[in-house]
Amino acid sequence: MAGTISFARGAPSLDIVDVDGLRAAAEQAFTNDPGGMTGYGTSIGYVPLRAWIAERHGVAPERVLVTNGSMQADAFLFDALVVAGDAVIVERPTYDRTLLALRNRGADVRMVELEPDGIDTAALERVLATGAQPKLAHIIPNFQNPAGYTLSGPKRERLIELARAHDFTIFEDDPYVALRFSGESLPTMVSRAPDKVVYASSFSKTVCPGIRVGYLVGPEVLIAQIAKIATSTYISPNMVAQGIVNQFARSGAIDRSIDTVREALRERAQALGYALTEYLPDARFVAPEGGYFMWVDLPEGTDVAAMFTAAAARGVAFVKGTDFVLEGGESSLRLAYSGVTVPQIEEGVKRLAEAYAEVAAPAHAA
Ligand SMILES: Cc1ncc(COP(=O)(O)O)c(C=O)c1O
Repeated sequence: MAGTISFARGAPSLDIVDVDGLRAAAEQAFTNDPGGMTGYGTSIGYVPLRAWIAERHGVAPERVLVTNGSMQADAFLFDALVVAGDAVIVERPTYDRTLLALRNRGADVRMVELEPDGIDTAALERVLATGAQPKLAHIIPNFQNPAGYTLSGPKRERLIELARAHDFTIFEDDPYVALRFSGESLPTMVSRAPDKVVYASSFSKTVCPGIRVGYLVGPEVLIAQIAKIATSTYISPNMVAQGIVNQFARSGAIDRSIDTVREALRERAQALGYALTEYLPDARFVAPEGGYFMWVDLPEGTDVAAMFTAAAARGVAFVKGTDFVLEGGESSLRLAYSGVTVPQIEEGVKRLAEAYAEVAAPAHAA
């Protein structure tokens, strides 16, 4: 059997990381600003990168804080806003690490069903009508992790109305926004309601995850408060990494990198869709318009935990649906197509289909 094929990790394969471009950016960054790159720096991040991000978002630099990956940005935001017992709205399913981070803080996590056009805002209204007073609603608007779905324009507007009416903050967690390969881009919620939305994004999905650079855009007062948390956590984030990203961004290399990643994702998503239709016709999925992930529902009663083991025996990895919800998800799985080539996708889905046949109920196995 050929090597392991992993649909598990939301990371790019090495062939779509611009290693030479990063090496050149590092060289140039050390030449341009040796003091800034090697000093402690400040808790708000490497100042020139902060300015570049602020300009891209059309906001004042005081509204931006650059961190070691967006997970760190999430953690700072939760430290600032969420205390044990606070109600927090999340999508169902949602990114497993934010789910865990919220649960570890003792948040009262309320999952609201995710639909192919984003969170079910009518269901959210019903939750709000019960008197729940959430502090925060965590929303992954574009090519959601794990589902690959995108929040529609009208639902973005409705969420903002609800945030205003019920006085909660929307946490717009948006690391995949640049990776749209079909359809039309939609305005960010933070651009529509800067007073009610805190935005996070990352260079992990467009440059590489190892660089560990992410950021927050939010109201100035909140950013200043989070800068204090950042100072006491780590004095400052990694200036070397942020200096490299700054050079990579300002030279235009980032735009070429985004094009490379986006094109690869387009091909891979399409190949995955074809392979599932061909080899695993029981799979139900919505073709994503960008990003790294596809959510797959199998017929109710399918034991995806058993399928996980059967797939592992065939050298294929994925993440079980149960990891992304508080309950349920037993017959679903997440497939990441970012780290696998087209031939691996075809071979991987064939093996998944064998694993499915092994565990499927007799009616399906026939
Ligand atoms: C929705 C979401 N938020 C945050 C992150 C964390 O990204 P980073 O590598 O910037 O910490 C991920 C990574 O998979 C993600 O999918």
